[in-house]
Amino acid sequence: MKVVVLDDEERIGSAVGEQFCALAREKANAVFGLATGMTPIPTYQYMIAQYKAKNVSFSSVRTFNLDEYCDLPRAHKNSFYQFMLQELFAHIDLPPAHIDFLDGNTTDEFAESERYRTAIEACGGIDLQLLGIGRNGHIGFNEPAENFTVESYKTALTPSTIAANSIYFDDVPMPKYAMTMGVGAILRAKKIILIATGSSKADAVKTMLEGEVSPRCPATALRDHADATVYLDPPAAARLCH
Ligand code: PGA
Repeated sequence: MKVVVLDDEERIGSAVGEQFCALAREKANAVFGLATGMTPIPTYQYMIAQYKAKNVSFSSVRTFNLDEYCDLPRAHKNSFYQFMLQELFAHIDLPPAHIDFLDGNTTDEFAESERYRTAIEACGGIDLQLLGIGRNGHIGFNEPAENFTVESYKTALTPSTIAANSIYFDDVPMPKYAMTMGVGAILRAKKIILIATGSSKADAVKTMLEGEVSPRCPATALRDHADATVYLDPPAAARLCH
């Protein structure tokens, strides 16, 4: 895994955002794998700025997001779909028909998982997958477990995730489940970029890069990928040995 340490989250956002823009320029029908959370926001802001400056068009890009809450309408302000609309999609020329999400309201999680796998495959696979990392080493909603997951699936959220995210739910109860891409599905991306910023991620980053590869820290699976790069700010890199 390649490790890049840059001064702050703005510089990381520019460096990573530029890779998405370059891919959109160079490859017709490029396929982006996208993530929610605070970490990718500077990356999305860079992409929006480049689009507004007419330096890039996303009109032929296709996107697949990592995860979505279950039992929450897509139109609800806290859905990950709404997050992506607000933070990226509403500000660029990505056609709505090119946006795909796991359906957290499906009545058949296995059929939905298969639909997503097939839809990604039909687009030629994900060219560039963006990831954040949880404090416990999760990627997507793949929490520490006994085995690495493979395809997309419905997962129960951990008490710590529920506690962390419930502050955003003031009108409806915080969902207890989510649909997420599995680790195996994430690893099929041709190129992966994981961003970690801030001291709260330092322990997870250390385990990801220097601990044993284990589903107890799902992000360690990225060490087996042929083209995965981690972008860190100094606080997130602070506990690394080298
Ligand atoms: P964050 O979430 O970007 O809001 O820190 C990352 C994650 O939990 O994967």
